[in-house]
Amino acid sequence: MMNIRPENTQDYEAIRSLTYLAFENHPHHEPGAKPTEHLIVEKLRNTERLALSLVAEDGESVVGHIAFSPITINGKASKWLALAPVSVAPKVQGKGIGSLLINRALEILKQRDVDGVVLIGEPAYYSRFGFNHSPELTVSGIPKEYFMINSWCESIPSGEVRFDPAFG
Ligand SMILES: CC(C)(COP(=O)(O)OP(=O)(O)OC[C@H]1O[C@@H](n2cnc3c(N)ncnc32)[C@H](O)[C@@H]1OP(=O)(O)O)[C@@H](O)C(=O)NCCC(=O)NCCS
Repeated sequence: MMNIRPENTQDYEAIRSLTYLAFENHPHHEPGAKPTEHLIVEKLRNTERLALSLVAEDGESVVGHIAFSPITINGKASKWLALAPVSVAPKVQGKGIGSLLINRALEILKQRDVDGVVLIGEPAYYSRFGFNHSPELTVSGIPKEYFMINSWCESIPSGEVRFDPAFG
């Protein structure tokens, strides 16, 4: 039975290792480059910028993780969060765990004082969770087709999005 719950201090090592493994040899990385996504999670945690961090637990094992952190829009604090990274242990990918994490996280965020979520990722995957391209919000340095938003506020702000400095 898969349990989705907030991270706790005992999960840190498992999150680190599953994030590293999920991004090892990732098609979006330079060949041979070591993953850095596990370090992003730790920097966000250490600077108290992990707005939401959920794990997927199968019995005793943590097999998935998702992180959210605040973004700025035109240099100002916003009620928007970035979804990144999301990781599922390679052995159990493709079994719906990533979908469970994303859907549960969106349900939680819709109950909070959050206007929407942005991400950089594959449209073929994220469109199923309600993510779309945005004419209003932009991010520099990323091809437009990979930048997506999911909003439940009345009007979407216009402007340039910046992710937390932990993303480098
Ligand atoms: C991306 C990831 C979190 C998805 O989690 P998952 O548990 O494997 O995914 P689910 O089982 O919920 O969904 C599987 C579906 O997503 C699709 N999918 C998974 N990754 C995809 C990708 N990068 N691009 C397009 N589709 C993708 C699968 O083809 C499958 O499609 P189907 O339902 O039509 O058969 C997981 O595969 C992972 O950790 N990948 C490596 C790290 C990564 O790329 N993270 C996201 C960075 S943006």
